Amino acid sequence: MCGIVGAVAERPITPILLEGLKRLEYRGYDSAGVAVIEQSGALQRCRRSGKVSELAQALLNEPLHGRLGIAHTRWATHGAPCERNAHPHFSGSDLAVVHNGIIENHEALRAELCGLGYEFSSDTDTETIVHLLHHKLKTFPDLADALKAAIPELHGAYGLAVISASQPDRLLAARSGSPLVIGLGLGENFLASDQLALRQVTDRFIYLEEGDIAEIRRNSVQIWDESGALVEREQVQYHEGAEAADKGEYRHFMLKEIHEQPAVVQRTLEGRLGSGRVLVQAFGAEAAELFARVKNVQIVACGTSYHAGMVARYWLEALAGIPCQIEVASEFRYRKVVVQPDSLFVTISQSGETADTLAALRNAKELGFLGSLAICNVGTSSLVRESELTLLTHAGPEIGVASTKAFTTQLVALLLLTLALGQVRGTLDKATEAELVEALRRLPTHLGEALAMDKKVEKVAELFAEKHHTLFLGRGAQYPVAMEGALKLKEISYIHAEAYPAGELKHGPLALVDSDMPVVTVAPNNELLEKLKSNLQEVRARGGELIVFADQQAGMANGEGTHVIGMPHIHDVLAPILYTIPLQLLSYYVAVLKGTDVDQPRNLAKSVTVE
Ligand code: F6R
Repeated sequence: MCGIVGAVAERPITPILLEGLKRLEYRGYDSAGVAVIEQSGALQRCRRSGKVSELAQALLNEPLHGRLGIAHTRWATHGAPCERNAHPHFSGSDLAVVHNGIIENHEALRAELCGLGYEFSSDTDTETIVHLLHHKLKTFPDLADALKAAIPELHGAYGLAVISASQPDRLLAARSGSPLVIGLGLGENFLASDQLALRQVTDRFIYLEEGDIAEIRRNSVQIWDESGALVEREQVQYHEGAEAADKGEYRHFMLKEIHEQPAVVQRTLEGRLGSGRVLVQAFGAEAAELFARVKNVQIVACGTSYHAGMVARYWLEALAGIPCQIEVASEFRYRKVVVQPDSLFVTISQSGETADTLAALRNAKELGFLGSLAICNVGTSSLVRESELTLLTHAGPEIGVASTKAFTTQLVALLLLTLALGQVRGTLDKATEAELVEALRRLPTHLGEALAMDKKVEKVAELFAEKHHTLFLGRGAQYPVAMEGALKLKEISYIHAEAYPAGELKHGPLALVDSDMPVVTVAPNNELLEKLKSNLQEVRARGGELIVFADQQAGMANGEGTHVIGMPHIHDVLAPILYTIPLQLLSYYVAVLKGTDVDQPRNLAKSVTVE
């Protein structure tokens, strides 16, 4: 959510900052800006509302040349998305700040700073930071000292970067609740809110920890921890292919990421399956001992990751016999929770930086859970660092704002968790575990078969182009899959979509059904199929048009107002993973037909690091 890039080098840094912003644009894209200290020693900036391409165009007309600079792409929280509110924000003519996150006491700070004579030129909370820092510089002339003095007065979550024309040899950074990473070069160093932004210039990184303040110069980096002590943080070499930030042959990142699913699911399984069993040590050295004591599981997550957790509840209770609760993080964190004895706290997150999920984990630590496990896609994220056990999903960077491959790899990880818990606690018989391990090994092939239905789904998408509302139905573990399908459709095509357990239809939503309301259903061949078929009859009887993704063996055929798309046959337990694919493709093709911005849908951003 918002992106920060900074550089201190011996070469012109504006192209590096711009390239970094383009790579981070998926995190926020309503305005962007860059500030550099020019050769003359003057601090200059260029800001534009809209996408980074608008800023790039403006910089062609008014170039900025400098060797020290900061840049930002914004997802508005305080103040409308317009040029005046775009970062970097200035205090006077020589101090600039970019900021991710929220300063919660910004109103009090604004009043105090106005009282000291500062004039605000934006509606943002960020501007309070830069004026506060300016004020502190009067007492602490060194920029790092001034920042250290200002930080205790900032309440909330932030990652921020600062430059000053009067100290043009350094870039300052501070992290509290919003990630920052330093990129190490030779005779040049960089800063970003995500290492993805810097992979064009380096593969060596230092991740700042909570409460860290850093001073970054061309040839040195100094970091102070929360207590003010000078600390050494580990350097990490990043090996994953830099091509991840590239669309390759695909028109959109989302389509590329949908098609990557067989490969990333394969990667998520690698090294985690033994002969006929899941390797429990994949969850960490202490996992076996901890899992043996688990009598209950509490899952907490947001959005798509929450839907993955909902599927896991069906699996954990049916296969491992463990009671499971699941809740969205924004509710869990503010609720008085009664913790069941011997409960494992599980968080699920693609980014590992989602503010609500992180806050829920921090609360959970006070609540007496047995331990915490993060199912996460980013090994260096706050969530992973703060959890006792981790299972990484290995989906690779997900750039499309709508989550796709993150979801299916989360489901795979959650099924591995189910099998591991069942195995260690002795609640899952060996034959069932072996059967599911074999089914998991075949899963990438089945996902490939589902992707081969691409053209059929594209055709069916035409039914939705003129519609304003849709219903998604599923039963059992397919109900969360229907919820995920509805979320995908609404977020990228802006069509109103709601998901219901099919059995709930007659308790209200059936009243909505008419010929203008397509009803999408996922129908694997399981014990609920006949009941689902009856629910679909209820829809047809009201003139509703049905789009059914059905197992080839389900005995469902095309008919008037009924469009059946045959799915490969798969083990019922794995069906939620397979049936997700056509729903992702459906929302993608509907969005393309509607001409929306598929990878960067309006009002949204990747990695929600604010509450
Ligand atoms: C939807 C989507 C969001 C995220 C949610 C949680 O396509 O991407 O709903 O799933 O913001 O994000 P993570 O998984 O990073 O915690």
